[in-house]
Amino acid sequence: MSQLRFAARMSRLGTESAFEVLAHARRLEAAGRDVVHLEIGEPDFATPDNITEAGIRALRGGATHYTPASGIWEVREATARYVARQTGVATLPEQIVLVPGSKNLVHFLLLALVEPGDEVLVPDPGYPNYASLVSFVGATPVPVAIRESNDYRLDVEELSSLVSARTRVLILNTPANPTGGVLAEEDCEAIAELAHERDLFVLSDEIYSRLVYAGRHVSPYSMPGMADRCVLMNGLSKAWAMCGWRLGFGAMPVALAERMDTLMINTSSCAAAFTQWAAVEAFEGAESDRAVATMMAEFRERRDVVVDGLNRMPGVRCRAPAGAFYAFPNIEATGWEDRALQRALLEEAGVAVLAGSAFGANGRGHLRLSYANSVPNLERGMDRMATFLREAARGASAVSGAAERP
Ligand SMILES: Cc1ncc(COP(=O)(O)O)c(C=O)c1O
Repeated sequence: MSQLRFAARMSRLGTESAFEVLAHARRLEAAGRDVVHLEIGEPDFATPDNITEAGIRALRGGATHYTPASGIWEVREATARYVARQTGVATLPEQIVLVPGSKNLVHFLLLALVEPGDEVLVPDPGYPNYASLVSFVGATPVPVAIRESNDYRLDVEELSSLVSARTRVLILNTPANPTGGVLAEEDCEAIAELAHERDLFVLSDEIYSRLVYAGRHVSPYSMPGMADRCVLMNGLSKAWAMCGWRLGFGAMPVALAERMDTLMINTSSCAAAFTQWAAVEAFEGAESDRAVATMMAEFRERRDVVVDGLNRMPGVRCRAPAGAFYAFPNIEATGWEDRALQRALLEEAGVAVLAGSAFGANGRGHLRLSYANSVPNLERGMDRMATFLREAARGASAVSGAAERP
C-alpha cells in the first residue's frame, strides 16, 4: 500500500496536551489504576436544568434543521444584548457570529486577516491552540511572556517592544488559561492605546469572563474604539458548564462578521439549532445567573483547597489565581523538570496534571492543575502529590544521580 502523503501544513499543527494526558490516564484506568483528574479544563457540573430544558424544548419544537450560517437571528439578537450587558458596549446582532465552539473564531480570524509571513502576538504560557493555528496558516507566532513575578498579567511595555512592521494580530486571554491571570483596567487601557498606535487587530478570548474571584472582569473590547479592531471571543462551555453543546460566539466589526459567515458556509454550515436556542436561556433565563453564581462559589472553595495544598508541598509555590479554574504552581525548587514530573505524577501517584511547558517555553518549571473537580477529589489529589513529592525528595537525598529525578 502506498504511504499517505500529508500536506506540509499538518506538521505545523500542534495539539492540546490535556487530551493526550487524558488518553494516557484512561489507559491506566482501563488497567485498573485509580487516577485523580486535574488535567482537563472542563467544568464537572451538569448544565443548569433550565438550559437543558430549553434545549429539549427546542428539539421537540423542530429545531433540527440548518440555520443561517452566523446563527438564528433572534439568537444573535440575544447574544448582542448579552455582550452589551457584560461589556457596556452597544453591540448589534449583525456583529455577532455563532460558531460550534469558540476556538473556531481563532481559526477564522487568522484565515480572514493574516497572510503567510505575518506575525501574531500570542501569550506564553498560553492556550496552545493560538500558536498552533497561527503556524498552521503560515504566519509566525511571537510569544509574549506572561510572568509569575507580574502576577501573570501581561507586561504592556514588553508587549510593545515585540510589535514589528509584520505584526497583524494580538491575541489576549483574560482570565487566562493556564495561569489564571487577569488583565487589570490599566492594562486594557494601555493595550488599547498600543493597538490604536500600531494598528493591531485584537482577538480577545474571554471564555472565562464569568469566573473572576475578585473585582470585576474588564474586557479589552470595552476600551474606547476597540470594538472596531477587536473580536470579543466567548462561549457557553465554561460559565454554564456546556462544553459538549459546542457553542461559541464572537462580537466583531460587521465587515469581519460577513467574512466569518462565508467561512461558516464553507466549513460547519452552522452551529446546532437547539444549542443556539439553549444559549438564549443561558443569557436571559431567570435561573441562569443564579446557577453561574453557585458554580462560581464552588470554584472559589476548590481554588483555596488546591492553592493551600500546593503551597504546603516541598519545593512548590502557587499564587492564588485571579480567575478561571486553573492553578499554575512553580515547581522549580522541587528539582523536577515539569514534563518528567507530569509523567511521574500520573504513572506513580495516580494524579493527572499538565506540564507548564506544554503552554509555551515560559511555562517551563510549572504545572497546570484544573480544579474543575470535586473537593474530595481535589483533596485526594493534593494528598497524593504531597506524599509523592515528599518521598521523592527523601529518595533523592538517599540516592543521587537517578535519571530525570532531582
Ligand atoms: C482559553 C480558551 N479558549 C477557548 C477554549 C475553547 O472553548 P470552546 O469549548 O468554546 O471551543 C478553551 C477551552 O479549554 C480555552 O481554555
